[in-house]
Amino acid sequence: MLDIDSWAFVFSVRPSEVEANLDCFPFDRGRGIEIVDHSRGPVGSLVAVHSSFEFSMRVPGGETIPTAGLTWVGVHQGHRRRGLLTAMMADHFARSRTRGEPVSTLFAAEPGIYQRYGYGLAARDLHMKLGRKPELRDVPGSDELTVTLESCSLEDHGAIVREFQARYQRPGSNATIPDSQLASLLVDTESNREGAEPLRFATVCNGDVVVAWATFRRKGTWEDSEPDGVTKVIAWGATTAAATRRLWSVLTDLDLMTSTRSWAMAVDDPLVHLLVDERAAKPDVRDNLWVRILDVKAALEGRGYESDADVVVRIADAQIPENAGLWRVTIAGGVAHVSPDAGSSPDLTLGIQELGAAYLGGVRIEALVHAALVTENTPGAAGALGNAMASPLAPVSNFMF
Ligand SMILES: CC(C)(COP(=O)(O)OP(=O)(O)OC[C@H]1O[C@@H](n2cnc3c(N)ncnc32)[C@H](O)[C@@H]1OP(=O)(O)O)[C@@H](O)C(=O)NCCC(=O)NCCS
Repeated sequence: MLDIDSWAFVFSVRPSEVEANLDCFPFDRGRGIEIVDHSRGPVGSLVAVHSSFEFSMRVPGGETIPTAGLTWVGVHQGHRRRGLLTAMMADHFARSRTRGEPVSTLFAAEPGIYQRYGYGLAARDLHMKLGRKPELRDVPGSDELTVTLESCSLEDHGAIVREFQARYQRPGSNATIPDSQLASLLVDTESNREGAEPLRFATVCNGDVVVAWATFRRKGTWEDSEPDGVTKVIAWGATTAAATRRLWSVLTDLDLMTSTRSWAMAVDDPLVHLLVDERAAKPDVRDNLWVRILDVKAALEGRGYESDADVVVRIADAQIPENAGLWRVTIAGGVAHVSPDAGSSPDLTLGIQELGAAYLGGVRIEALVHAALVTENTPGAAGALGNAMASPLAPVSNFMF
């Protein structure tokens, strides 16, 4: 498995790191494709792998939904473009549905890969290059929060991250984290360092309550005898504006570092508003989380809503026929009731990719109508569903998998 993925993702694993890497692969859900025709190579050798992390994802309304986080997808370079990924995706969808997971998510190595399988871009994030100690607007109470900086370890910090994420309200974030995903987040291997220091862990507390955390590495370089180090933040989360301010005040003011690379910053994150000179941070919008709706009824009924609506949608789904067709979505009191409605004419017509894009409330249905990706058959229907599905907090996944 590691051999296939090191071919696919161009990395090498030191013998001493094999165990640590295998701890990050969810073997109970992993699948491979092996050669059965000797004209393709040695019969029985593995040529493609994938797996998925099983977790609950936070969705709008504060609910959580069982999710299959697709991961470790790799096809050996000698066997690419013969349909192996397509075969694995069909297998992933069927098994996730059988397990009762209405949604699959992923981070895309290349954005062009997964849209053909119905994944929609549901969360965008900002990548920023913060200078040393950028000026931030005041937040009362921020300076009183305590900060601890330590070497990162699964044993010391796994429980902190899990407990924090269970409380974290950002749509798109993990509310639960399986062991293998936690290992990939917190286990440090030398091959991953790219010349930087071992993984570090920052904890921000208000009394006994963890209000922010981050993993990061510093790379200490010198330019013409001047320190020019870079701090790279790998994963992070903060629950309040005060915690956000305290965390980033520390991460941007480490000795000998001249810049801090941040990512997984929601487009409405408090830090964006606290930065006095946002332009200097050169915010760069990227694709964060892709969402694939595997079960329309369970997915739509599994999240909360901002307002009432009653619309009939016609959904097209090339891979999962059970999703395709006409559905009546009746939303009242923040709760949706979704049922097949073959007899009605649609108010909106959309593909499963667009439903996935809108699912976390960060992309409005009306914007997809403006982009000619959704058809509004009944005037006002896109606005009604868009208002209901919008999220007051922009979605983001605060760590990659
Ligand atoms: C991406 C990858 C898994 C594709 O595997 P594959 O077996 O070659 O894919 P398939 O043969 O099933 O291709 C299916 C379709 O996707 C397209 N496709 C595959 N990789 C693509 C890419 N990187 N960008 C755009 N389109 C891509 C193919 O052209 C094909 O299109 P078609 O259906 O119109 O003919 C493989 O190339 C790989 O391992 N890449 C490196 C690792 C990686 O990026 N993994 C994904 C991690 S998120």
